[in-house]
Amino acid sequence: MRITVGVSGGIAAYKAAELVRALQRQALEVHVVMTEAACKFVQPLTFAALTGHRVITSLWEEPGPTEGADSSIEHIGEAQWTEALVVAPATANILAKFAHGIADDFLATMYLATTAPVLVAPAMNVHMWEHPATQANLEILRERGVRVIEPGTGSLACGTVGVGRMAEPEAIADTVLNALGRRHDLAGEVVLVTAGGTREAVDPVRYLGNRSSGKMGYALADAAQSRGAKVILVSGPSALHPPTHCEFVKVTTAEQMRVAVLARMGEATMVIKAAAVADYRPVHVSDHKLKRSGPITLELAPTEDILAEVVRQRRPGQLIVGFAAETENRMENGRAKLLRKGADAIVVNDVSSEALGIESDMNAATFLTTSTSIELPAMTKRKLADRILDEISTLRRPRSLSVELDDATPQERVLSQSNSIASSRRQLIVE
Ligand code: CTP
Repeated sequence: MRITVGVSGGIAAYKAAELVRALQRQALEVHVVMTEAACKFVQPLTFAALTGHRVITSLWEEPGPTEGADSSIEHIGEAQWTEALVVAPATANILAKFAHGIADDFLATMYLATTAPVLVAPAMNVHMWEHPATQANLEILRERGVRVIEPGTGSLACGTVGVGRMAEPEAIADTVLNALGRRHDLAGEVVLVTAGGTREAVDPVRYLGNRSSGKMGYALADAAQSRGAKVILVSGPSALHPPTHCEFVKVTTAEQMRVAVLARMGEATMVIKAAAVADYRPVHVSDHKLKRSGPITLELAPTEDILAEVVRQRRPGQLIVGFAAETENRMENGRAKLLRKGADAIVVNDVSSEALGIESDMNAATFLTTSTSIELPAMTKRKLADRILDEISTLRRPRSLSVELDDATPQERVLSQSNSIASSRRQLIVE
């Protein structure tokens, strides 16, 4: 398959070289188009050496026609040749040009001329990212079907900390592969995902909540949809954008989440409960803002356990996966939760670490069933989402394929590898 990587002028331009390599490792043929500003950060020669093709940097060069294209006009030829245009990094400027149809350089002109899927991986200063102009441009692009690969949070080259760091090249390559339909193994599945935290009102302005950002659940929704599933995303309050084509149900409280999940679970073939649901809610919700007058005591009542209820109402063939957020005795608590809730699997997270888990773009987990425990080491949440889906998919396969890979037949090993479970250590728990 043929991919064009568009590089615009940001400091993350150097990471585009890693993206090119990651795409080539998947046997994709890659061309690179650079804006003039991108050439200030990285030499076109770098990409020419990696791809073995001339790098296109201007509308006005004297080129040869793109090999295999019908048109001898280069931007039209490249636009016809490519099967996906991925722009990484995508600056605020190139996003604005795309959104408003400004065609004053090769990349922006090619964007208008191509009918192939377009993906953009923005990278910029946090204030530029948050600016209403940038957000409005992204909204226009999303509506037109452009896939936005959300930037991560972290320290940025400009010295500030916040959202704006380009997604990791491996994660961008994964998204490109998914968008190209290279993995369509969840076609026919209906995946109900819960995400984010819930909020339990104390008075009209205060609530009890938690730090869940929704990133893990949204990553699962995105990954499942990219792999061909129909996705229903039930989410507590979150700043994230849901995947464009999923059914999105916005809730606030644990009770609203319970009602939404129970109403839709009948349709689902898989239920993945990544939400951090409040365990308690105030018994009395004040109808006026509570005034400050010394210590107060809130009386709390337990909320319903939605996961346990989903398990009670499950229909045959439905797979149910919960999450466990633990700060100590991770495995012991995770295993107890698996048995108590009766789910098919529990994804156990250690939420005591600052670098991983809650609010972070990275996570590590253990995928736990009654018979196996699979370590999924630290990786981006988007990548972890695919790994979790790989493991959930193996639950549908006959038991014979869930044995130690060392014991598997060559055919089983090939099948297992194609589901990318070979990379994690598979270990049978002997009770
Ligand atoms: N969960 C749920 N309804 C609740 C509480 C939790 O459906 N009222 C689900 C979560 O979505 C998650 C799993 O149960 O999939 C485990 O959540 P977690 O907060 O780790 O465990 P709890 O059941 O709340 O137990 P504890 O807080 O005591 O660890």
